[in-house]
Amino acid sequence: MRIIKNNIFQIILLSIFISCQTSNNLSESQLNKKVDDLIEKMTLDEKVGQMTQIDQRFLDTITDLSTYSIGSLLSGGGSHPSVNEPQAWLDMYNKYQSETLKNRLGIPLIYGIDAVHGHNNVYGATIFPQNIGLGATNNPELIFEVSKATSLEVAATGIDWTFSPCLSSPEDFRWGRTYEGFSSDPKIVEKLGRSAVEGYQSVVTATGKRIVACAKHFIGDGNTEFGTGMNGLVDRGNTILTKQELKEKLLPKYQAAIDANVQTIMASYNSWNGVKCHGSKELLTDILKVEMGFQGFVISDWQGIDEIPGNYKSDIATSINAGIDMVMVSGQGQPYKKFMRLLKENVEDGSISLERIDDAVRRILKVKFSNGIFKSPIVDNEKLEIIGSKKHREIARQAVRESIVVLKNENVLPLSKNLKSLVVAGRGADNLGMQCGGWTINWQGGQGDITVGTTILDGIKKSVATETNIIYSTDGSDLEDSESDLAVVVIGEDPYTEFFGDKDNLDLLNEDIQTINNLKNKGYKVVVLLISGRPLNVANHINDWDAFAAVWLPGTEGDGVSDILFGDYNSSGKLPYPWPIKAEDGANADERNLLYKLGFGL
Ligand code: GLC
Repeated sequence: MRIIKNNIFQIILLSIFISCQTSNNLSESQLNKKVDDLIEKMTLDEKVGQMTQIDQRFLDTITDLSTYSIGSLLSGGGSHPSVNEPQAWLDMYNKYQSETLKNRLGIPLIYGIDAVHGHNNVYGATIFPQNIGLGATNNPELIFEVSKATSLEVAATGIDWTFSPCLSSPEDFRWGRTYEGFSSDPKIVEKLGRSAVEGYQSVVTATGKRIVACAKHFIGDGNTEFGTGMNGLVDRGNTILTKQELKEKLLPKYQAAIDANVQTIMASYNSWNGVKCHGSKELLTDILKVEMGFQGFVISDWQGIDEIPGNYKSDIATSINAGIDMVMVSGQGQPYKKFMRLLKENVEDGSISLERIDDAVRRILKVKFSNGIFKSPIVDNEKLEIIGSKKHREIARQAVRESIVVLKNENVLPLSKNLKSLVVAGRGADNLGMQCGGWTINWQGGQGDITVGTTILDGIKKSVATETNIIYSTDGSDLEDSESDLAVVVIGEDPYTEFFGDKDNLDLLNEDIQTINNLKNKGYKVVVLLISGRPLNVANHINDWDAFAAVWLPGTEGDGVSDILFGDYNSSGKLPYPWPIKAEDGANADERNLLYKLGFGL
């Protein structure tokens, strides 16, 4: 009798599951029919338009959006509306979408942006810790919340798609994009990347539009050989791995993203065994689409196809035939009309088959249909006040707290809130731009008050008793009247993005060392806080430091640092990268040459 009861119960459960699957979104077959019917009606010009992505700054005229049925716009780093504030972003989105919808078949555009640590181009948005700090939290539930909050802020401005998460597992810290990786350990990246995809894509707007994520950069972006990159350094260099090593080491983190239903994947600038990823059919089609079963669409990186050996027309044929579905032409280098003309010529002269074009357009249209962009392209009822909201800043503050890794503490931390006086010094103590790092407001970030936030100094001032006298000195000089015997010194890296951050030497800045020496020479104990996108060379200095913590690139909520400094919360952050004595040795440094192991943290 019990068996029969169980079976009936299971049948009821299954029917409920099936019905809710079909009721709240198109079934696979309905989706395919809609897409195929539309493709049937499209001209080659319209298909070519769908495969073209332009940075909004480089539009010749807005009517090109409808004239050419442009499939996508992006805002690259710093590509703002005339006024950088939320309402202007929403108005810009709706202006472009409204124009696009005038195309013959009414196909909406999908708008992408690098919301990689918050909606970071938008003034006033919550800026979360960069991925290296999130990696130190090793907290997938938190990363889900961070990514969800980011998508909520992206959705409020109308935008459909974030080029995130970055799934790099950087090994050479001389790479300027080390901080964009959660960890050098692909297993940690796999776990946190999955949560990020789920978080970003968990957001559906009131009118039913779902935010789309993008796993990037496929593949081996953080595993290139030093010296093979741009300017003889690292970025966009050559990754040397056998296919077996690739499958064991780098593919699982993308498989996890695919299994989490990531809708887009971005090809990587680097080469794999000497072949540009953007031109590798083995990578983008045979491995990614066939073996791994990726059903979404592959977007190129910014002018990424231009770096394929050959002329521009052959670059187009090579990349599309390799499996690129949409090209981030950008319009900054090659004109987008030239791209579209040459793409069409490639089809007409047989260099690219119509089947390949239809496959690319099918993938793009499926993403637009299944994420509600056809259903509700224009956004007019999102709540702009969610951008930079208190709730989101609280999530960011928790992420800052959990990202801090205490590496040395000679019984000075936590600090008392009732000190008579406290010296705070260093270039990074009162510098929101340094705290945020690259990809913030502008492509390369900036210095000082670049947006709304709390500096580490602000946070300290808010934490201590009113009687405590805070003495701030950027370089640790002019402190005569201080009665304090302890100084918090915030040092580190100036903001950088991509190859601007490639360096062959990872020493601390002399002025930072000088600041600490100024304080030590006056007899102060020093608590050193390092703002950086990677491990740096601290081994020769650390013996003089009474306490040392890595705060990475915490973003706008600098009070998360004082939460740990004054012991309101215990530090829980663990190193997501090993810390070599010589940081240039990177993640593969011999264990005997490590200052701290991956996973270490007091
Ligand atoms: C950049 C980056 C990529 C980013 C894209 C759009 O060059 O490599 O991560 O998503 O261009 O800004």
